[in-house]
Amino acid sequence: MKFFIETFGCQMNEHDSEKMAHLLRVNGHTQTDQIKESDIIIVNTCSVRQKAEQKFFSLMGRLKKIKDARGVIIGVTGCIAQQEKEVLKDRLPYIDFILGTSTIHKIKDAIEYGEKGSFFCDVTENGCSPSLFIKPWCIENRIKAYVTIMKGCNNFCSYCIVPYVRGREISRPSKDIIEEVKSLAQEGVKEITLLGQNVNSYNKGTDDISFPALLRALNKIDGIERIRFVTSHPKDLSDELIDCFGELNKLCEHIHLPFQSGSDKILKLMNRGYTISEYVEKVERLKKVCSKIAITADCIVGFPGEEEEDFKETLNLITHIEFDGIFSFAYSKRKYTKAALFLEEVSRDVALERLKYLQSVQKQITLKKNKAMEGRILEVLVEGKSKGSKDDLTGRTRHNRIVNFKGGDDMIGRLVDVKIIKGYANSLRGEWI
Ligand code: SAH
Ligand code: SF4
Ligand code: F3S
Repeated sequence: MKFFIETFGCQMNEHDSEKMAHLLRVNGHTQTDQIKESDIIIVNTCSVRQKAEQKFFSLMGRLKKIKDARGVIIGVTGCIAQQEKEVLKDRLPYIDFILGTSTIHKIKDAIEYGEKGSFFCDVTENGCSPSLFIKPWCIENRIKAYVTIMKGCNNFCSYCIVPYVRGREISRPSKDIIEEVKSLAQEGVKEITLLGQNVNSYNKGTDDISFPALLRALNKIDGIERIRFVTSHPKDLSDELIDCFGELNKLCEHIHLPFQSGSDKILKLMNRGYTISEYVEKVERLKKVCSKIAITADCIVGFPGEEEEDFKETLNLITHIEFDGIFSFAYSKRKYTKAALFLEEVSRDVALERLKYLQSVQKQITLKKNKAMEGRILEVLVEGKSKGSKDDLTGRTRHNRIVNFKGGDDMIGRLVDVKIIKGYANSLRGEWI
């Protein structure tokens, strides 16, 4: 049968979709990107903000029409499924299966039930679940790959739903990770991104090796040219990890280090566990060890209790650090979280106004940084044809900037040197040399 997967949310979810696709392919099904020709539709959901939830429910409205018109099997997986199975059963009685964040390895059983016309639901929370060990392999022409190293989160930031939908932290044994990366290298993969909600906590409290030691081991694997990881929590960013940026030639000069707010008062309410001066100190150490490191971050505006003064402190941090990019969000109240009980709410209008302003400030900084690249020769890993123009190739620098340039198909999958001729807000234009 042909299956179609729609994915919402973070890289963890994207990778979970790849894992499910792998298990289905192994069982003789084929993937399609055309919903109209699919026999199975899987929606892998995210509940981090209300907007993601709304998008999911509006998609489900459209899927119901497809279900009514022809008998497709529809399944819901991921974070909304984990959290709201009763609501889903109630609001979407036409769906065939529900799988949680620890049970995606049961996708084959779920489809078999669907074929028989029976409902399947399993959202058992199991830290060391087999889903942590699925290794999607032989994805055609793969240049980059995600590798799960840990799952879950113990931090309980007061706004965040993730600890409730992904459970407690659990790390995958280093031996299993190293084996997977070796086989990815043999498959031709050049770049790996290590995934975890909080990679700095990798193997905390176990006898297995630390995260910096894992990076050192992976750096030795022939064929792998680039190593990245997401996400780091500032409070757990150790000096040993910072030093890796100066020592390991394959570790890309880029770190995603969410700060969430520039105000100590708000950071405390968010339960983040660091102050802004501690954050700035870590960034300075990173820059000392690796002067050209690119720093990106996540940030929330309009958190309950955020006053004009707090927002100004966030803007001060942004202009002081000059981030290479920021993913910024208006605070979204999430059921079950501690912040949902906070009373000093910021109005939606004020939050959106602050968000718009912050984004305009950051856009100028990103543009300035991209313009500063003009004239430089940068190493680009060529990922494929550009979506915007058929004649262009697209790839990324080690700093994770997108570069578009003219070149032949034979360059896809290779590391090439490109001279940057123009810097834009979201990408760079280059010339192959
Ligand atoms: N584990 C990662 C990512 C978590 S979710 C980390 O700790 O950094 C990704 C981002 O979504 C967060 O960094 C935060 O900026 C944002 N986010 C999480 N909950 C949110 C909420 N309730 N409202 C708005 N943004 C939120
Ligand atoms: Fe959410 Fe905080 Fe955990 Fe990140 S560290 S997943 S923001 S609770
Ligand atoms: Fe969303 Fe779940 Fe990721 S809530 S951000 S898909 S961990």
